[in-house]
Amino acid sequence: MIPPHVAVLASGNGSNLQAILDATQEGTLNATVRLVFSDKAAAFALERAKKFGVEALSLSPKSFPSREVFDQAVVGLLQERKIEWVVCAGYMRIISPVFVRAFKGRILNIHPALLPKYPGTHSIERAIEAGDLEIGVTVHFIDEGVDTGPIIEQSRIQISPGETLDAVTERVHELEHRLYPKALERVFSGKVRYEERTK
Ligand code: GRF
Repeated sequence: MIPPHVAVLASGNGSNLQAILDATQEGTLNATVRLVFSDKAAAFALERAKKFGVEALSLSPKSFPSREVFDQAVVGLLQERKIEWVVCAGYMRIISPVFVRAFKGRILNIHPALLPKYPGTHSIERAIEAGDLEIGVTVHFIDEGVDTGPIIEQSRIQISPGETLDAVTERVHELEHRLYPKALERVFSGKVRYEERTK
């Protein structure tokens, strides 16, 4: 199968991006990352992309009059490069309907919680504060809500009593780095398909 053309969207460190790039190199993920895009010019994810020989671009939302106009510009960049799949990996922006519709069923995300629990930000912190004994990560399709799209895969770990936020966060990240490339492979190979909710 011809590897699909993928863009990864990231706002920060890009450790999930790295796991994805490594999996494409190791051959466990059949995909070509064509573009890494960020809304933050200083994102380390852009450095990781360049080091890997992948085009790295950023646009500042502040230079655009609205979320929709910004997203339309991002969609333009992706379409120009014939991107088939959009993979959000720590992209800290809500994707507006104009973007979701342009890539319907072809935008994926990873979230550090067992959705539908703890959508939005600070989910690991919120799980610990609530005294949860387990935590996990979710790979899902993006729809027009915030972290509400159809779930592709989840993975969970136990929280030990007294475990610090940093320690839990580190273990959650390890889990993400294992789960995301595997889940993407299932989607790109057609084993999992997007189905729109009917209600
Ligand atoms: C990850 O925990 C991801 O689930 C969340 O943001 C974090 C990004 O980390 N959406 P990184 O930039 O991939 O290192």
